Amino acid sequence: MFAAALLRSKAFVWIVLVLPGLWPAWPLFVRQDPSALTDPLKFILLHYGFVACVLLATVLTFSPLRVLFPRWDIALALNRHRRLVGVSSFAYALLHFSVQVLYVYDGGFETLAKEIRKPFQLTGLAALLILLVLTITSVNALIRRMGARRWKNLHRLVYVAALLAAYHQADARKTFPLQVVWIFGPVLLLQIARVWKQRRGTPARAVPTPGA
Ligand code: HEM
Repeated sequence: MFAAALLRSKAFVWIVLVLPGLWPAWPLFVRQDPSALTDPLKFILLHYGFVACVLLATVLTFSPLRVLFPRWDIALALNRHRRLVGVSSFAYALLHFSVQVLYVYDGGFETLAKEIRKPFQLTGLAALLILLVLTITSVNALIRRMGARRWKNLHRLVYVAALLAAYHQADARKTFPLQVVWIFGPVLLLQIARVWKQRRGTPARAVPTPGA
């Protein structure tokens, strides 16, 4: 199937992951969108935070899809890229944080220390630190050293990171966070369906394959 063949390709997935990072150039330089130009750094800050959340939610759908549809070639193709997509979420979260350092903290450690104590920013920081640990421990040598069971247990922290990121995003919006619902809602439904299928006794192994 063409879609599955495309999704198996590492080059294609790289392109899909890099494009959202370049997207701000379009409204800022090409189309010169006034809503983006009013505050370009804020625009970039929100955009990278959004991409980080979408990628985090996306990678969390891969395993449930494989468990629920073990013969679906698209689910199998997606699962080849779990590590790449997970690490990309961290990369965008780091870019988001770096823009915040430039934007508000202005490089000053005092402002950073004061601002970061706010619950909204603390949850962001905690999610970022978890993603950092998961990224570091996704190196092949470390996976081998830790062993499959310990590695898998540690990587369950990704669910905590997702909860923290969802709270952080909801709090950033202040109004009812519909965006959080459509980003993380499908993940929740798929995870419930996965647990339900596994409880029914269908053999569904979750082998800790970190990606291709
Ligand atoms: C130390 C870490 C972090 C800091 C200091 C931080 C800070 C911020 C700030 C200041 C905003 C803008 C709030 C406003 O509207 O004025 C924001 C929004 C946001 N952040 Fe973070 N953040 C951090 C980590 C993260 C992480 C790890 C993620 C995702 C994995 C994330 C996702 C988001 C999202 C989705 C938004 C809202 C974007 C929107 O409204 O479109 N942030 N963050």
